[in-house]
Amino acid sequence: MPMSARHFLTLNDFSPEELRGILARAIELKKMLREGTPYEPFKNKVLGMIFEKSSTRTRVSFESAMIQCGGGALFLSPRDTQLGRGEPLSDTARVLSRMVDIIMIRTFEHEKVETFAQYSQVPVINALTDSFHPCQLLADMQTFVEHRGDIRGKTVTWVGDGNNMCNSYMNAARQFGFHLNIACPPGFEPDAAVLANNQAHVTLMHDPKAAVRASHLVVTDVWASMGQEQEQQARIAAFANYQVSPALMDLAADDALFMHCLPAHRGEEVSAEMLDDPRAVVWDEAENRLHAQKALMEVLLGTYRLP
Ligand code: CP
Ligand code: NVA
Repeated sequence: MPMSARHFLTLNDFSPEELRGILARAIELKKMLREGTPYEPFKNKVLGMIFEKSSTRTRVSFESAMIQCGGGALFLSPRDTQLGRGEPLSDTARVLSRMVDIIMIRTFEHEKVETFAQYSQVPVINALTDSFHPCQLLADMQTFVEHRGDIRGKTVTWVGDGNNMCNSYMNAARQFGFHLNIACPPGFEPDAAVLANNQAHVTLMHDPKAAVRASHLVVTDVWASMGQEQEQQARIAAFANYQVSPALMDLAADDALFMHCLPAHRGEEVSAEMLDDPRAVVWDEAENRLHAQKALMEVLLGTYRLP
């Protein structure tokens, strides 16, 4: 059996040109959906969705993407599959990939999606690990392009935890050609290897006010990610100066946008009014998960060839 399927585990699995092609296609697919153009490239295709962590946006966007494009999706939680009873991921990958056409996984250690992909005959998509969230970056980059055009040469500031989203933003900085300032509390820096790999495109700082200066995009995320719930209280203290508010946004460029992958905790990483500020594009950002992942799956399934 062939083991040569193409996977999307991080943004580094595609070239910068391919990533730009996916964004352009996502914008096109969004327009087609808005216009009601019937388009069913995934007819008879099945997506397996393994969720070892909670989700609203990721589950609904992938499942809707498959249904709208003529295919189907299976929600697989460890609670009711043999994964929860200890069947190895490598065995699960070999079995599932003989039955479905494409698989997405949301899990803890990034090595798990790598192992899964190694044993899968069909494309595997990382739908969030402790280390990366590349699907969210496709949606974020699409959203920036739609509102402001090309992100190349722009300045983006990440405020808060050096988490999975922050790591993916570092990869995005190199792949899409922007500069990323990271303002995180000491002790909450992002992954050192990912930082080293993207060094020329990233500046690590600790002061959010200095970091957002002249930024075209400001991004944040929760202070305690899934799996860190027991650290929540300690993190609230450590991150107290890292809230994004309209006042902080006023220090950024005049046309700065604000993004958050959601879910948001108002009063923690964002002030109560920030999501309703005109600079916030978080609802477009959430919607674009649907369009960007359709484009991604078209490319992985080979139903669309990038120019
Ligand atoms: N942003 C994001 O991935 O949201 P969910 O956890 O709801 O899927
Ligand atoms: N950093 C967050 C992102 C949620 C979409 C987490 O991992 O919980």
